[in-house]
Amino acid sequence: MKTYKIAILAGDGIGPEIMREAIKVFKLVEERNDVRFELLEAPFGGQAYFDCGHPFPEETKAICDAADAIIKGPIGLSHEESQKIPVDMQPERGALLPLRARYNTFANFRPVSLPKAIAHFSPLKPEIVGDGIDMIMVRELVGGLYFGHKETGVNDQGLRYVKEVLEYDEGQIARILHEGFKLAQRRKKVLHNIHKSNVLKSSVLWNEVLGEIAPQYPDVKVVHMLVDAAATHLCLNPTQFDVMVMENMFGDILSDQGGGILGSLGLMPSACLGPEKAYYEPSHGSAPDIAGKGIANPYSMIGSVAMMLEMSFGMEQEAKNVWAAMQGVFADGYSTPDLSRGGSAELISTEAFGDKVVEKLRSL
Ligand code: IPM
Ligand code: MG
Repeated sequence: MKTYKIAILAGDGIGPEIMREAIKVFKLVEERNDVRFELLEAPFGGQAYFDCGHPFPEETKAICDAADAIIKGPIGLSHEESQKIPVDMQPERGALLPLRARYNTFANFRPVSLPKAIAHFSPLKPEIVGDGIDMIMVRELVGGLYFGHKETGVNDQGLRYVKEVLEYDEGQIARILHEGFKLAQRRKKVLHNIHKSNVLKSSVLWNEVLGEIAPQYPDVKVVHMLVDAAATHLCLNPTQFDVMVMENMFGDILSDQGGGILGSLGLMPSACLGPEKAYYEPSHGSAPDIAGKGIANPYSMIGSVAMMLEMSFGMEQEAKNVWAAMQGVFADGYSTPDLSRGGSAELISTEAFGDKVVEKLRSL
């Protein structure tokens, strides 16, 4: 029997309550497959700072180092709580970016998937959604502006200034582009390359590297699109996209727009892959305003389990079953209050939603 160690970082806000539902799914998958998951919970995020003095404590690092894969809930506190933490210890800068850097998780996969069962959540008109939206945004996750040199000071004119460096080398660009091409090859063989080469030199190099490696993927058609235009196309004609590839900040922004297309970031799980380790997380924040109320939907957290099963453990069929189970619960007419749009769905709690997913999964 295969045994996998999984680090469980529940995080802040709604993190612990949606993670509880994800754990139920791990347990059921374990029950009905020849696999065992050793689930190791560890503190991470804003609360970890208050409890342990660091948002990414040493004990958590050790657990993550030893794990086969990591699943992480959202992190972050309310504005007021965040202000009590020194800037560099705030969970985004003090925990999340260091987690990404530690495991070099350069390849971030964010599915924007709107099958029929959840199409009613989208704010887009039915004629735009058509038969459903199903794309994956591939975002470079450990380079560019978010990781570049930062400097603040006072300049010669006595004005405060800030400098943040956007830097990529061709190796960093090539490896994420290869991920995009390989995924496109497995899907519809169309790759949308998102860039801003009319202004940014980083995009000029990006496109040069793309031109050099594209011949290795002769069956993939590349469509070049400026990032600002891509934002418009995502609203007007989202079904043209299948795989999109882009640098870190473009991916941060457009993937949130992906959540907007679905009707909620709560429907956005993600996978972050490095050369040796992968971690999985919802793309949304910790929603402190609704934390502890039992009204948050666990879709993004359970979807992250599905992505782990597929991408870390090769359990493709079981991953498909998990997706189908979640969508099945929506199709049966249930939802949670956070996602409701005054529709006809019967509103149930986070916990009840998780139980229904497990029940559905059992029947598949
Ligand atoms: C995301 C988030 C993070 C990012 C924040 C929390 C640092 O917005 O995963 O998209 O900007 O990458
Ligand atoms: Mg983001």
